[in-house]
Amino acid sequence: MNSGTWTDLRSAIYGRRAVRLYKSTPIDRDTIEALAHAAIQAPSAMNRQPWVFAVVEGKERLQRLSDSVKHYLLTLPTPDFPIERDMLMDPGVNIFHGAPALIVVCATSNDAQAAEDCCLAAENLMLAAYASDLATCPVGLSRQYLVKPQTKRELGIPQELVPVFPVVAGYPDEEPQKSHGRHTPTILWL
Ligand SMILES: Cc1cc2nc3c(=O)[nH]c(=O)nc-3n(C[C@H](O)[C@H](O)[C@H](O)COP(=O)(O)O)c2cc1C
Repeated sequence: MNSGTWTDLRSAIYGRRAVRLYKSTPIDRDTIEALAHAAIQAPSAMNRQPWVFAVVEGKERLQRLSDSVKHYLLTLPTPDFPIERDMLMDPGVNIFHGAPALIVVCATSNDAQAAEDCCLAAENLMLAAYASDLATCPVGLSRQYLVKPQTKRELGIPQELVPVFPVVAGYPDEEPQKSHGRHTPTILWL
């Protein structure tokens, strides 16, 4: 992993993009641990560090999980994510984009600000992944399924944890879309 000069940080902040095509190469656990260590350098309210990283490994396992998420979302009258039903019904769509690992940043409680803390940790994790030649993509679409008690039971996520930020990681098999541009920031000088 890069040693943290501003140039490295700048290139990670400006170079990281959501990647939606991955090589099958697995990520070894040491690398995932290193990402978690970078993630936990994020600030947290009152330094509570209210996070746990739940990792689902294996492309095939994630393919099955994707099918379950899609099936579940189709049963909901109003999914909390604006999503086209055609996409959910398409058997060719893998919401985890064929990545070899899903890292779910979970809050250890529903305490105020725990979710914000987890999102900050997730951003650190994604930047650290970029600096390690890995790619990532948040998969917010899966959250509503992951928070279900039954899903937690099936996956082995302790019931008290609150899945906040699911993100897939893997070795990229596409150039991230540079076209994901940004609007000029709106700054209110008050
Ligand atoms: C909270 C959150 C949820 C997201 N959920 C999904 C998702 O379910 N599937 C997906 O492919 N991308 C998802 N994304 C990725 C965004 O589409 C992507 O970050 C955005 O288009 C900007 O592109 P960039 O990350 O390449 O800069 C999500 C991003 C965030 C921050």
